[in-house]
Amino acid sequence: MRTPIVAGNWKMHKTPAEAEAFVRELAPLLEKFDKVERVVCPPFVAIPAVSAALKGTAVKVGAQDVHYEDQGAFTARISPPMLKGLVEYVIIGHSECRRDLGHTDEIVNKKAKAALAHGLKPIIAVGESLAQNEAGETETFVSQQIRGAFDGIPADRVLSIVVAYEPIWAIGTGRSAEPGVVNEIIRRAIRNTLAGLYGDEVAKYVRIQYGGSVKPNNMADFISQPEIDGALVGGASLKVDSFTELIRITADLTV
Ligand code: PGA
Repeated sequence: MRTPIVAGNWKMHKTPAEAEAFVRELAPLLEKFDKVERVVCPPFVAIPAVSAALKGTAVKVGAQDVHYEDQGAFTARISPPMLKGLVEYVIIGHSECRRDLGHTDEIVNKKAKAALAHGLKPIIAVGESLAQNEAGETETFVSQQIRGAFDGIPADRVLSIVVAYEPIWAIGTGRSAEPGVVNEIIRRAIRNTLAGLYGDEVAKYVRIQYGGSVKPNNMADFISQPEIDGALVGGASLKVDSFTELIRITADLTV
């Protein structure tokens, strides 16, 4: 019912030449796993080379951020029209951007609307801090992030959006969240919130990834949860072997 999507978020890794060599090796290995949507998100400067190298393959390209204006005096920013034709997806609201670049829910919402207006598909990342988790605030906080991100987005655009639930304390720490707990948070704080906004019929088709220290040895436990439709992967997406393994595991568990 929901095609799983596994996306590699390369963050600030790989030069354009390294990125191109990497996807030339990766793409043939991923070709056969057509039950899974396969995406790589290189740094901006590597996107043209990666996008050209992946033309005609099954692997799609995403960006790691996008500005909400089309053009203007916004030094260092990249706009949706600049990405159009090069990428299909764009990660919006990653916790590192929320933390380092001040991307609030309001900004995330503007970026999502701008991306959609230019035919780019947002991967909207949400997730609580360790302090919020320990204070029992996870569901309230994540639900609020979802309402903020989707504010004013009409129902007919919602299925172009993927949500990534990434508890901040699980990102890059090797300490992944417990799959059964993640499943419940996704169901209650994300899918139910979307159902409240758009109705059950829409909410049940929205794809929701887990992210945070996803590795080949824990992927199966996440993917076998009914509410988890793939993963947003940092560290383990940087090696051909481990990223291929994540996709293979996902494909094997997809009927
Ligand atoms: P990680 O990163 O897999 O290295 O924990 C995930 C992410 O930040 O998307």
